[in-house]
Amino acid sequence: MSTSSRKLDHIRICLNQKVETTGRPFEDIVLLHRAMPEIDEVDIDTSCYFLGKKIAAPLMICAMTGGHPATKEINLRLGQAASETGIAIGVGSQRAALEDRTLEETFSVVRDAAPDVPVIGNIGAVQLKRSGPEILETLAGMIDADAVAIHLNFLQESIQPEGDRDGAGVLDAIKSAAKGPVPIIVKETGAGISAEVAHDLVSAGVKMIDVSGTGGLSWAGVEAFRAAETEDGNLEEMGRLMEFWGIPTPASIVECRSAGAYVISSGGVRSGLDVAKAITLGATLCGIALPLLKPAMKGENELKRTVTDFCDELRVAMFLSGARNPEELGERRPYITGRTQQMMMK
Ligand SMILES: Cc1cc2nc3c(=O)[nH]c(=O)nc-3n(C[C@H](O)[C@H](O)[C@H](O)COP(=O)(O)O)c2cc1C
Repeated sequence: MSTSSRKLDHIRICLNQKVETTGRPFEDIVLLHRAMPEIDEVDIDTSCYFLGKKIAAPLMICAMTGGHPATKEINLRLGQAASETGIAIGVGSQRAALEDRTLEETFSVVRDAAPDVPVIGNIGAVQLKRSGPEILETLAGMIDADAVAIHLNFLQESIQPEGDRDGAGVLDAIKSAAKGPVPIIVKETGAGISAEVAHDLVSAGVKMIDVSGTGGLSWAGVEAFRAAETEDGNLEEMGRLMEFWGIPTPASIVECRSAGAYVISSGGVRSGLDVAKAITLGATLCGIALPLLKPAMKGENELKRTVTDFCDELRVAMFLSGARNPEELGERRPYITGRTQQMMMK
């Protein structure tokens, strides 16, 4: 199956099946209520800088799509929503456009719609290893990107019939990429990043890590549904078995922060309250993917409302935490309970 048509399979399954893991790791995090916030709510400023550009809130639309003609409209809407709400946006893997240049516009439509916000390109780590670090300039040029995300998705590759499981030499490829002119973000895709891997990445010159931990979209789950459709019982079973594999997002934030990385939190961020929790744990920015897919299919207004809801909820959490801005929120002390607390006791 081609890279391009696989993209449509993934979107269809994400829209129609239950592809989120059960359990919400952010419920283990409780923000400390400030009975006396000692700030005027109107003085709260959620804005911050990312990749040298001012954004209205510490939020990013995570890498999702592009790479099939039918995805152009979705990326257009996502780009418009990012532009109008003033948040950052990533595109899905640009691999399909490297294979077929006519697909470039399914990605570049994002930059056309969002000329002023940070736009992030995307490529798989294995593809980077095969193509060499120069490919990052091609990818960034395609969409006038401010940075390119290199994704790690070995869980998904392990369940795909066409999966590429050659994980050897990825760190070296990332090390070479980090020396180049294009800023990079290394991101997982729903299975999280440990302190050990974060240390390796930081030592290789990587500054920004998107943890993309468990608690949200499960690629093992998506691939299990795909396997069921092709009646591949073995892979379906494997996908179901591995559905909960990975590091929950809150724990992954703390692990990557301890390695000294600039941390982006994605994977199961489902409200502005989760954004606030992620920031108190050490994230500087939060990414949202799956919660925006259905609204993107419904239309521009629905999509903008969803993003605005996240911003409004973050603002209330900041007020009740007594934080005027994201930096002050990052100084607040959260309670860490349950499984997340147990995982952190090493
Ligand atoms: C339909 C869909 C396609 C995705 N494609 C990509 C991709 O091409 N590259 C990537 O790095 N991540 C991709 N992701 C993963 C997201 O960027 C994100 O890391 C993950 O979905 C966890 O966030 P969530 O729980 O909010 O969905 C995709 C997610 C979805 C829902």
